[in-house]
Amino acid sequence: MNFEFTEEQIMIQQAARDYAQRELIKDVIERDATGRFPSDHIKNLADLGFLGMLVDPKYDGGGMDTVSYVLAMEEISKVDSSCAVVMSVNNSLVCYGIEKYGNEEQKEKFLKPLARGEKIGAFLLSEPEAGSDATSQRTRAVDMGDHYIINGTKNWITNANCGSTYIVIAQTDPAKGHKGINAIIVEKNTPGITLGPHEDKMGMRSSDTHSVMFNDVKVPKENRIGDDGFGFSFAMKTLEGGRIGIASQALGIASGAFERAVQYSKERKAFGKELMYHQSVAFKLAEMAVKIENARNLCLKAAWLKDQHQPYGIASAMAKQYAADIAMEVTTEAVQIHGGYGYVKEYHVERLMREAKLTQIYEGTSEIQKIVISRAVLGK
Ligand code: CAA
Repeated sequence: MNFEFTEEQIMIQQAARDYAQRELIKDVIERDATGRFPSDHIKNLADLGFLGMLVDPKYDGGGMDTVSYVLAMEEISKVDSSCAVVMSVNNSLVCYGIEKYGNEEQKEKFLKPLARGEKIGAFLLSEPEAGSDATSQRTRAVDMGDHYIINGTKNWITNANCGSTYIVIAQTDPAKGHKGINAIIVEKNTPGITLGPHEDKMGMRSSDTHSVMFNDVKVPKENRIGDDGFGFSFAMKTLEGGRIGIASQALGIASGAFERAVQYSKERKAFGKELMYHQSVAFKLAEMAVKIENARNLCLKAAWLKDQHQPYGIASAMAKQYAADIAMEVTTEAVQIHGGYGYVKEYHVERLMREAKLTQIYEGTSEIQKIVISRAVLGK
């Protein structure tokens, strides 16, 4: 077993760290307050190759491995999860979905601009009444021969406004249940698509979340990914990789808060000595460090399995559940260590705590991950 990173992996980690610590940090508090989408940063991350980092160079991607992706996601998320989630959805849901399951025409037309970061993708699965219960899709894609007509509403869609390439999961044949669902690539500028207002979220406030409404949206049949009825399986398989992205994001949120807590405990004095000399603080830091190390190992294990073309669905669910849950614990302790300063924006940890909460909710709640894990444990 080799726990060493390659030179290339270390370079990618360093590039992400440099960009986050030098650039993202400058306006992250302002963007959290205003909800302004970070278009400039997303363009720079695209120039660094981070928006299509997993895609094969023959489709204009970076050709990097999933381990590198985890390292980069951790570094970006230490500072700004709103940028990290654009990276995660674009890479592991939209680019991966089209590269793995799309045909050559779809890769030429849709994947290449996504991999270059010229276009951004969104993954439209969640609905007002089908979030966790993803088989209950109400959005309809009626088969009209050479095209589909889509009607329905999608909720909580990351990249809905900045994105121009949507993968829409919709029901074509309700009688067939989840076997009647399709995944269809839809360009946002297609007539009949409207967006709800920007969601005023608790955390990741500058990421771009909206509802998307479809009213008689006509999409050519050639935009369907895979065979008729493949859409639910497509969504589940794609989410397995998406969960590595969000697990790494949660890991980054936890390690960002931890680094700040360590620094603060070395600087701040109470009762005549720095906080780090108080065992109550030192023990908290030790417990936080162990949780982060466990989360990092789970993320890297899932990424490594994916890179080795081995099954990774259970590993990614474990990484996502554990990393998200400890991100909430670690950020809460980081606020506690900072005391009153932790509760104000300037010290970043309260924002990281708000961001951690979302990682327990999206791309499958912690409870969904436990369903996936317990079914595997019980051999169901
Ligand atoms: N790979 C391939 N196929 C799979 C699969 C997987 N990982 N998991 C399930 N399936 C297949 C099953 O084999 C089954 O097919 P068959 O009947 O042919 O065998 C079918 O899918 C239905 O499976 P289940 O009976 O297990 O379905 P279920 O209703 O019990 O639900 C679930 C399973 C795991 C709970 C699933 O609904 C789920 O993952 N829900 C969460 C959805 C989710 O993560 N939503 C997040 C939205 S995306 C997002 O947040 C992106 C963003 O913007 C940030």
